[in-house]
Amino acid sequence: MRFDIISVLPDLLQSPFAHSILQRAQKKGIAEIHVHNLREYADNKHKSVDDYPYGGGSGMVMQIAPFAACIEKLQAERQYDEIIYMTPDGVTLNQEIANGLSSAENIMILCGHYKGIDQRIRDIYVTKEMSIGDYVLSGGELPAAILVDAVIRLIPGVLSDETSALTDSFQDGLLDAPIYTRPVDWKGHKVPEILLSGHEAKIMAWRHEQQLKRTKERRPDLLND
Ligand code: ADE
Repeated sequence: MRFDIISVLPDLLQSPFAHSILQRAQKKGIAEIHVHNLREYADNKHKSVDDYPYGGGSGMVMQIAPFAACIEKLQAERQYDEIIYMTPDGVTLNQEIANGLSSAENIMILCGHYKGIDQRIRDIYVTKEMSIGDYVLSGGELPAAILVDAVIRLIPGVLSDETSALTDSFQDGLLDAPIYTRPVDWKGHKVPEILLSGHEAKIMAWRHEQQLKRTKERRPDLLND
């Protein structure tokens, strides 16, 4: 699976993909992440990619020409399943959407800055608009990194123990059960007896019960859908 991310701050996107599971997925050849510097597609000597909004108002707007040049260059090289614009007014990312995207072959992600991007880029090129939550960040780079992380870990073969993605919170529509490791007793705070019993069926039943309890307490909305 290949991601092409278009950004004015490509350096911001180096570190998030250079560690742990995402790094391993790239080394195994399962995922490729390419970051493109939008300024290289600017058609002026100052490499500026934004301008004042028509109609007035505060903030600058990212112009159509640099995005169009970069997007069309990439589209000439391969077919994209989705061209996603990260924006707080998009559809909120969830596990179901991440699952759906994990079977795509090529995904392009556009990162906005300032006030946002010219609406015509959205109208002409974008196939999905995604938000990572109801709050506003300075740009689309961190949201793009979150989306890429959520999707890559779901591609078969990325996690060494495949069941660990299947038992993630949300994967079955419920939050995860509490987890423990050594020591059994930390200053009087003990691991629940049942987890030490070795009785697999009882442990599974306990975990499911805990998942329901947690979901009911913390995210009752997940049970009502
Ligand atoms: N860009 C700025 N804020 C964002 C958000 N919450 N989700 C996606 N992209 C964004």
